[in-house]
Amino acid sequence: MDITFSLNGQPVLLNDVSATTTVLDWLREERHLTGTKEGCNEGDCGACTVMVTDAAGSRALNGCILFLPQINGKHLTTVEGLASPDGTLHPAQTAMVDHHGSQCGFCTPGFVVSMATAHLNGATDHDVQLAGNLCRCTGYAPIIRAAEDLADKPVPDHLRSLRRSDAAVVNTADTVQPTNSDELAKWYAAHPDATLVAGATDVGLWVTKQFRELGPVAFLNRCEDLQGASEDDRTIRLGAMTTLTEVERAVAPHFPSLAKMIRRYGSVQVRNAATIGGNIANGSPIGDSPPALIALNATLHLRRGDTRRSLPLEDFFIAYGKQDRAPGEFVEAITIPKQDDTLRCYKLSKRFDQDISAVCGCLSIVVEGGKVTSARLAYGGMAGTPKRANNAENALIGQEFDETTVRKAMQAMTADFEPMSDMRASASYRMQTAQNMLMRYLHDMEGTAVDVQQVQP
Ligand SMILES: Cc1cc2nc3c(=O)[nH]c(=O)nc-3n(C[C@H](O)[C@H](O)[C@H](O)COP(=O)(O)OP(=O)(O)OC[C@H]3O[C@@H](n4cnc5c(N)ncnc54)[C@H](O)[C@@H]3O)c2cc1C
Ligand code: FES
Ligand code: FES
Repeated sequence: MDITFSLNGQPVLLNDVSATTTVLDWLREERHLTGTKEGCNEGDCGACTVMVTDAAGSRALNGCILFLPQINGKHLTTVEGLASPDGTLHPAQTAMVDHHGSQCGFCTPGFVVSMATAHLNGATDHDVQLAGNLCRCTGYAPIIRAAEDLADKPVPDHLRSLRRSDAAVVNTADTVQPTNSDELAKWYAAHPDATLVAGATDVGLWVTKQFRELGPVAFLNRCEDLQGASEDDRTIRLGAMTTLTEVERAVAPHFPSLAKMIRRYGSVQVRNAATIGGNIANGSPIGDSPPALIALNATLHLRRGDTRRSLPLEDFFIAYGKQDRAPGEFVEAITIPKQDDTLRCYKLSKRFDQDISAVCGCLSIVVEGGKVTSARLAYGGMAGTPKRANNAENALIGQEFDETTVRKAMQAMTADFEPMSDMRASASYRMQTAQNMLMRYLHDMEGTAVDVQQVQP
């Protein structure tokens, strides 16, 4: 595949790029731009953070799990491109020096690129913006002080003026970048064994950690009709390529608890890449969005060639590693019916930021005339698929929503799941915490502070 993009303001044309060369490897090995570091090579540490700019704006992304075709037609800014052409340091760099934000310096380029991108976007929630960057020696206080100091400094002109740089799409037999879902549908129906790459926050690791050959590959990032959120009177529609960052924004006015949970999904860099379609299609039992979408009674829209079908999302997950998706069929969108907001999402993981759930409970209970009329309790991490607690739901329906009922439903939940023990949690811990989430929901609805950030001193 041939691609073009701009690197720190200079045009680049690459012929015959491999579909699985990462931006990080290319920068370091082909361009000898070694400011961008390799730490974990799996999206966890942020040492490889780069800034990618297109028509939608500038985003921080992890270069280690970003394939070159994903930046086709965009601007790539690395730490070497942050200083002005006359050599004046970027104010993020100056602030890091002034506040002693660096010791060994290994993490520093990644932090500085994250800070510069947040600064460009006017984001001042520094803890959130920097949660995807790890530092082993300086400690975070000086770095946060540097970010605070940076906030009121002007954005350098050379970063303000970045725009989309259009690129022609030059496909090869094995690597394609369709520009719309019709093209994708046709190609994928003819190549049903191909790998689809959306945000590559899973697929990237197949390459960097498992050294897998992907075979024929379709990159979905230029299918504009698969991107973004829209809504009408009755539904919110999320195109499969909508990033988790965009999903957070789209759901916030309707389901604030879901938006709050998404803020704990990976890091800024991961949410800027990961898509809702990928989070569903990978069929993971511990993906964070499926339980919430199932609790909201969302509908999944699939397409194979010219044939489209829709099904309740919960029916998509058949068993561990098995989804209701035919060869050559792809996720086109997901729709959420608008409804009164009774959803609460509780993510339990070992760390607050940037961690995979041990248990994720997304609960929606409707009480009318003092009685429970509807209950949708969807859990991740409790079975081989995201799954509803039907017995617990039945124990709630028709009852008063109080502690006695909730305790009965908690007991009934033991018949819903046989969770496994693994490095994240034991089976008994999973069961107990899933049950406790129901009690937490009751307290939450009664206005008691149940959030770790609310109850800490
Ligand atoms: C550091 C890190 C932190 C993470 N934290 C979390 C977390 O907190 N919560 C969580 O749930 N996940 C987390 N993940 C996992 C990952 O981000 C998600 O599973 C993500 O949503 C996958 O989406 P993607 O767009 O990156 O998919 P990709 O990696 O591109 O693809 C994933 C799978 O879905 C398929 N696919 C993609 N799009 C489609 C489509 N439209 N139709 C059919 N198949 C498709 C691909 O072929 C592949 O099999 C994390 C990952 C990393 C690396
Ligand atoms: S090297 Fe750790 S996130 Fe990329
Ligand atoms: S300064 Fe050493 S890891 Fe951050």
